[in-house]
Amino acid sequence: MKVSVIGAGNVGATCADVIAHKDFVNEVVLLDIKENFAEGKSLDMWQTAPINLYDTRTVGATNDYSKTANSDVVVITSGLPRKPGMSRDDLIATNANIVKSVTEQVIKFSPDAVIIVVSNPLDVMTYCAYKTAKKHSSKVIGMAGILDTARYRAFLATELNCSPKDIQAVLMGGHGDTMVPLPRYTTVAGIPVTELVEEGRLNEIIHRTKVGGGEIVNLLGTSAWYAPGAAAAQMVEAIVKDSKRIFPVCALLEGEYGMNGVYLGVPAVLGKNGLEKIIELKLNDDEKALLEASSIAVKEVMDVLDNMNLF
Ligand code: LAC
Repeated sequence: MKVSVIGAGNVGATCADVIAHKDFVNEVVLLDIKENFAEGKSLDMWQTAPINLYDTRTVGATNDYSKTANSDVVVITSGLPRKPGMSRDDLIATNANIVKSVTEQVIKFSPDAVIIVVSNPLDVMTYCAYKTAKKHSSKVIGMAGILDTARYRAFLATELNCSPKDIQAVLMGGHGDTMVPLPRYTTVAGIPVTELVEEGRLNEIIHRTKVGGGEIVNLLGTSAWYAPGAAAAQMVEAIVKDSKRIFPVCALLEGEYGMNGVYLGVPAVLGKNGLEKIIELKLNDDEKALLEASSIAVKEVMDVLDNMNLF
């Protein structure tokens, strides 16, 4: 099994490092446009193999996509990250061109790969890769929901002083401030979270989750990488191992939740075919309204992309 990660910046390098540590593929190729950058990072990673006891070969490449040939999964992290004061949507003009040209190269050498997009604005960049790749939408998906639920779960674990392992949650919608955490589907070791955290406090945690990416941008001056990299690696693992795990995934909706032609975060089963099934929850009216608002926000940015006439 072979995985390629495009972009050896903080998110891409973390993703490759986590995949290598978990030792479930033979080879991880890390590719970057910057001369020798990916080579240096992958060599440094490979030198952790005797310490961390894994076999996965980490290989670096400077813009040579032939090294990524026949990958089973390709993760695209290329593009600029946010700076303080920027929304993810501010990145569209630059990142759309980058994601388009990267996707063209990726599919040239790995036409059958499942593509996982991580670049921002996430939902629209996933749509951009889908339009470029002209593959079935089950093979072009985006990573956001695992990251957003991880933030939500981490905040809840801190609040309750319990293990984050015991917190299960679903979160839907776009990867932006309109994302829709679902307290009704959040449990702590099977106990509904609403029995453990009072409503006002839960709403504060939900709000912190929605702006969780921005919180890190303000602290660091650039966007997060440990959690985004690990989240993308978790999707890769589910696909490579064909484990049918259920995660919130950015997927093209074609009738699900009454929506059409929009990439949005929804719970889905991941396996060797990529996105194998979208799970349709029975949402109440409030949840439906929030999801609808989120889809409108994403659709507006998708329209910006369409109006760039790249395709
Ligand atoms: C974040 C960026 C990566 O949410 O979108 O941290």
